[in-house]
Amino acid sequence: MTRKILLTAALPYANGAIHLGHLVEYIQTDIWTRFQKMRGHECWFVCADDTHGTPIMLRAEKEGITPEQLIERVHAEHSRDFAGFHVAFDNYYTTHSDETRHYSEDIFAKLKAAGLIEIRSIEQYYDPVKLMFLPDRFIKGECPKCGAKDQYGDACESCGAAYAPTDLKNPYSAVSGAPPVLKSSDHYFFKLSDPRCQDFLRQWTQQEERLQPEAANKLQEWLGAPGESKLTDWDISRDAPYFGFEIPGDNGKSTGKYFYVWLDAPIGYMGSFKNFCDKKGLDFDEFWGKDSTAELYHFIGKDILYFHALFWPAELAHAGYRTPTKVFAHGFLTVDGAKMSKSRGTFITAESYLTQGLNPEWLRYYFAAKLNGSMEDIDLNLEDFTQRVNSDLIGKYINIASRAAGFIAKRFDGKLQREHVSARFKAELPGLMEAADEIAGYYEVRDYARGMRCVMALADRINQYVDKNQPWVLAKQEGQEAKLHEVCSLLINAFRLLTIYLKPVLPKLAQRAEEFLNVAPLHWADAGHLLPIAHPISDYEHLMQRIDAKQIDSLIAANRESLEPTAAAPAPSPGIPLRITVAEPHSPQRHAQHQQHSEDIVQAQTSPVEPTISIDDFSKVDLRIARIADAQHVEGADKLIRLTLDLGEGETRNVFAGIKSAYDPAQLVGRLTVMVANLAPRKMKFGISEGMVLAASDSDGKSPGLFLLSPDSGAQPGMRVK
Ligand code: MSP
Ligand code: ZN
Repeated sequence: MTRKILLTAALPYANGAIHLGHLVEYIQTDIWTRFQKMRGHECWFVCADDTHGTPIMLRAEKEGITPEQLIERVHAEHSRDFAGFHVAFDNYYTTHSDETRHYSEDIFAKLKAAGLIEIRSIEQYYDPVKLMFLPDRFIKGECPKCGAKDQYGDACESCGAAYAPTDLKNPYSAVSGAPPVLKSSDHYFFKLSDPRCQDFLRQWTQQEERLQPEAANKLQEWLGAPGESKLTDWDISRDAPYFGFEIPGDNGKSTGKYFYVWLDAPIGYMGSFKNFCDKKGLDFDEFWGKDSTAELYHFIGKDILYFHALFWPAELAHAGYRTPTKVFAHGFLTVDGAKMSKSRGTFITAESYLTQGLNPEWLRYYFAAKLNGSMEDIDLNLEDFTQRVNSDLIGKYINIASRAAGFIAKRFDGKLQREHVSARFKAELPGLMEAADEIAGYYEVRDYARGMRCVMALADRINQYVDKNQPWVLAKQEGQEAKLHEVCSLLINAFRLLTIYLKPVLPKLAQRAEEFLNVAPLHWADAGHLLPIAHPISDYEHLMQRIDAKQIDSLIAANRESLEPTAAAPAPSPGIPLRITVAEPHSPQRHAQHQQHSEDIVQAQTSPVEPTISIDDFSKVDLRIARIADAQHVEGADKLIRLTLDLGEGETRNVFAGIKSAYDPAQLVGRLTVMVANLAPRKMKFGISEGMVLAASDSDGKSPGLFLLSPDSGAQPGMRVK
């Protein structure tokens, strides 16, 4: 039965570049689309730029262009980046469109008619210089809880407290710098607290498989127990100046208010699809009408679950449209175990990846090998990336074709065996054709990781077959012609099957493989048969290069934002721990932790005290509590351990510490220590060191007298040490 499927990926904001984090989502959705299309279903994948809101308005202003010019330029950049990674949208549109305006007004009018829109006056911070209301993120000030300066209006990055902008001490506008004033204005609210919405959502979000189990639990938390009314009304309007759609007033009157960007953003899914339907002659209502039987899926990141699983279905249901069949949320991308970081060079843009000459299918494969359909974060470990792509794609898959192709070309006039190989194939490589169903099942539930493992296990078996039959030996033996032909024909057929299984992930490579195999574009059902008797294949050209570790180094270098030059006085080498003059006493606890030191209860040799400094001098050193998130040996360095330090709020640092003589990396993971957080970054042979950890040592700093500092229990990563 042919299914009708409409897929969306979240609409990227039109004020920033596409980066590898985004691509987790777009590649994932593209794989699913390609898979469904290969299965013969009617499947459409639409997306658009999310173009409205204050940040886009201000960004355009800063660049001295109109918002329309900005979003047009970014649309071209985004389209280029997606095409570069073979993300094949059926339509890539914009929310700044007539279609999206139409559905925004339509949904708003229907919610209003249903009595779910209310106007209330609220008080908000207003920038008296810039003459605009300020979104929370554009108000800064001191944290009401810990006093940290320059914190945003919604949460403190230093202590993690969440609050309202009006709680900030000494607030100022991040746009003009002026202290904001409180001003009231009328806002439109979508009455999410209405029992109709609450009841609907309670039932909708807990329906079988609408959401992943983790997501359903989150929703349960947000909704509260039945009878409990935890949802508050949602403010869907913004005051001018705003870049967006004006909210229509009664009888065509102007309201001077605009739809909040998150109101029209998901409606942009409809807008993009409507635009596509009009171009293609498809029936929009067949997919979005109340009684639609088509499947509708939204792929999103876990950060925007709230909007997609609460506001969005409630809006649709009460405006007379169908709701999504399912929402698929995924986790966030980390690089080498830490949040992407501009200073580390791991905030990698799609553009830089491509211009550095890296193959987009390497990343597609790596992501596929890691994605399992859950909301867990996924890590791009650059070493593992190199190793896995080279070993799986080149070493296992491509290798099969390259080992057989030459013999077919040279010895058999480029043609496969004259007899049908089917029986031999099934005897020698049992299960290879039958695996199609199992692998399809993994794609269907978005467990691409299992799918890839399954394909690579098949590739291993095929390579064992190669090793057992050694075509290069057969080629040299007399009278083995027929056997050689058979082995190579089987291998070409096996390669073709793997190509089918990998095609949703590696579309470009599959296309080149199809040219080599001299076959029409492969569909999933083609796994049910082998190539015809005496099928001619084309000349083999190498299908994919290996990753060279140097390419990864240049990629990181290209993305590293220039670090401030080191100050005049040379900073101490980060590899060497700061020597503090007070030797740490050996507590019994420490002995238990570091048994290798238990014999070394010696009087520490203290060095002379340094010249006196002022308190101001001291406070220039920003000491912070850090959690050792990861610790690794550094290949080729006999003193260093590479530490990943967690400073709280998702901030991590890479530090090379000269403590290898005293600590085993595995022992360090998880413990708290103290670091110098504002030390100028230092380029070392092994990478950039971004600070240093504090340890006590005797005056010559030699092992075994080396003791990392630890705070008393209760201290949290990011706390300042004064
Ligand atoms: N404009 C909104 C979405 C509106 S949808 C109606 C938005 N845009 S975004 O550009 O910030 O993010 C687009 C998508 O990329 C989101 O689903 C987001 O979760 C995802 N990702 C952005 N950074 C990411 C990572 N580092 N890792 C994985 N996905 C990430 O949100
Ligand atoms: Zn704080």
